[in-house]
Amino acid sequence: MDKVRFGIVGVGGMGSGHANTIQNIEECELVAVCDIDPEVVKQISEKHNVKSFTDYKELIDSGMADAVIVATPHYYHPIVGMYAMDKGLAVLSEKPMAVTVKSADAMIEKVKETGVPFTIMYQSRASGVNQAARKLIAEGKLGEIYRTCLISSGFRSQAYYNSAPWRGTWKEEGGGVLINQAPHPLDLFSWIGGLPSKVTARTANRRHEMECEDEASAMLEYENGAIGFLHVSTSESPGTSLMEFCGEKGKLTIRGGSLDFRVLEMPLQEFNDTTENMWGSPKCEKVEVEIEDRETGHGAIIRNLARNILHGEPLIVPGEEGVNSMELINSVILSGHKGEPVDVPLDRDEYERFIEEMKKTSKVDKSAKVQRVTDPNHVK
Ligand SMILES: NC(=O)c1ccc[n+]([C@@H]2O[C@H](COP(=O)([O-])OP(=O)(O)OC[C@H]3O[C@@H](n4cnc5c(N)ncnc54)[C@H](O)[C@@H]3O)[C@@H](O)[C@H]2O)c1
Repeated sequence: MDKVRFGIVGVGGMGSGHANTIQNIEECELVAVCDIDPEVVKQISEKHNVKSFTDYKELIDSGMADAVIVATPHYYHPIVGMYAMDKGLAVLSEKPMAVTVKSADAMIEKVKETGVPFTIMYQSRASGVNQAARKLIAEGKLGEIYRTCLISSGFRSQAYYNSAPWRGTWKEEGGGVLINQAPHPLDLFSWIGGLPSKVTARTANRRHEMECEDEASAMLEYENGAIGFLHVSTSESPGTSLMEFCGEKGKLTIRGGSLDFRVLEMPLQEFNDTTENMWGSPKCEKVEVEIEDRETGHGAIIRNLARNILHGEPLIVPGEEGVNSMELINSVILSGHKGEPVDVPLDRDEYERFIEEMKKTSKVDKSAKVQRVTDPNHVK
């Protein structure tokens, strides 16, 4: 095999972007596309001259594909993904990998059972800055971390939420900003800085006519006593993209995609305990960090899965790591609704009961006019 044959399930929005991207990756060949909307699948299959299906099982059972990209709304990610795994296909799931941690766990169990390669479209992990940040902290360059911070705010209009009936509904999306826009930063934040053990959150819907939250804030408590704060929103413009990790030996900040790394001349506690200068604070130096020039974006993750299948290249996003952002997404939603702290790892069954209750309150307006306009940031 010198090319991996890909099928894509769900090509109305992001999946159509992936169909374009695959055409530029030499290790990949697009062989089939599937969508429950016959008009959508006709258009994309004709554009790329590939076979079309309206039932994902038929695509997977056809034997045409070695790997499948699942780009449906989130509830279908585990359903389609696990069906494909059972049939021996490698899977690239769009983010988030599922709606609940329990269904994310089920996917990981299926990966262990079938042994198929499984990755998630967390393309931000491929960036040189994020790779460098993760490495610095993993190598202990910050020492023990005592504070973290994530702000990821931006804007989505009412027209965006109206563009497909599933958006912002409990029944068909399973959350708002936390489950749609925040998964990328939440994945990076937990990949670089680890997971907290307790979450106390407040969620709100500030400006949009939709069922779920467009803003969430949380205080995070870590096992080692460290504290963290996070804020995510689709109600703010201009947006902010900020991640900060403060440790005994320095501070690492990623703001708007740029990395700033400061190292203390003497670790904080040691300085505190030894200085006789009542107004002194430790000297700090900005350290230039070498940033690797790497392929980024969706193409990097698709190519990486193909190379994993062809040559055993390590996955940039091993599927099991996708559970961490699910823990954060579900914990913040649940704590916000209960108005009290929740423990991480989250009680899976409690969250299942919660989401089933929320689904009962959910009204999906199928008469809404669908707009299929792929995010211009993802159109090549
Ligand atoms: N990684 C990224 O940068 C990125 C960007 C945008 C969206 N996404 C993710 O992609 C997924 C899809 O989002 P979107 O904005 O493209 O949504 P969308 O509504 O525009 O497209 C989803 C498509 O899936 C189809 N579909 C629904 N159920 C199906 C099924 N059972 N079988 C086959 N097709 C089915 C729909 O008809 C629709 O055409 C979401 O999970 C979202 O979080 C990821």
